Amino acid sequence: MPTTPRTGPIVILTGAGISKESGLDTFRDVGGIWSRVNLEDVATPEGFRRDPALVQRFYNDRRRGLLTADVQPNAAHEALARLEAEWDDEVFLVTQNIDDLHERAGSRTLLHMHGELLKVRCEGCDCVVEWRADLGPEHTCDDCGRPGGLRPHVVWFGEIPLGMEAIADALDRCALFMSIGTSGTVYPAAGFVAEVERFGRAHTVELNMEASHGASMFRESVLGPATQVVPAYVDRLLADGIPG
Ligand code: APR
Repeated sequence: MPTTPRTGPIVILTGAGISKESGLDTFRDVGGIWSRVNLEDVATPEGFRRDPALVQRFYNDRRRGLLTADVQPNAAHEALARLEAEWDDEVFLVTQNIDDLHERAGSRTLLHMHGELLKVRCEGCDCVVEWRADLGPEHTCDDCGRPGGLRPHVVWFGEIPLGMEAIADALDRCALFMSIGTSGTVYPAAGFVAEVERFGRAHTVELNMEASHGASMFRESVLGPATQVVPAYVDRLLADGIPG
């Protein structure tokens, strides 16, 4: 008796590994960003207070890298956009990444829990605007008039990630949790799989170049480069439904 394919809401978490084959560096691989730059200096509120110019230079360098012509969404980003378009239930994509490659690939239901590289925020009134090269330290906020420029709209260590209520709700309801291209070292994202498994209803799968710190908590593990394993997994989901 053919079983009807299991469907239901899908929550997908992505990390820097999904953008690696688009030419963007990860953080903790060999030669990664944190092997070249001290995260205390550029990814903490204390670092920004100590030397805002250094922090602005760090993020402007990463913006220039992201905006070069050869950095494009790859087959993994495109496969997730295709899954969202063709799946018969909700696909909620939560990314730790601050690049815009998921948007450019066509993903729509997307939440940047660590902020966005191409946006900046006023520390006075919290308004968020698209980044422009002229928004330097002499800029005053158009909304509240606060002088001193706008900070990167990026969640730094010690700050609260964005969208946590919506994420918790989606994790509680999902039938499938996919974790792609993340080392599973930074919370709260690293704890999402445990949150899903607490309910025990959903299938959980990790797709990564190597086993992450949380690998043992996943029911399924698919190792390999994202541009190969993610499109293949999406094809299987669309053909056979959710495993298990
Ligand atoms: N395909 C799939 N996975 C890959 C690939 C690839 N081509 N290349 C690397 N990876 C995997 C690595 O094996 C690693 O497990 O991607 C993961 C990247 O891990 P990190 O560099 O730690 O990046 P991430 O998990 O996204 O970091 C989380 O830490 O510094 C903070 O805010 C920052 O959002 C970031 C968070």
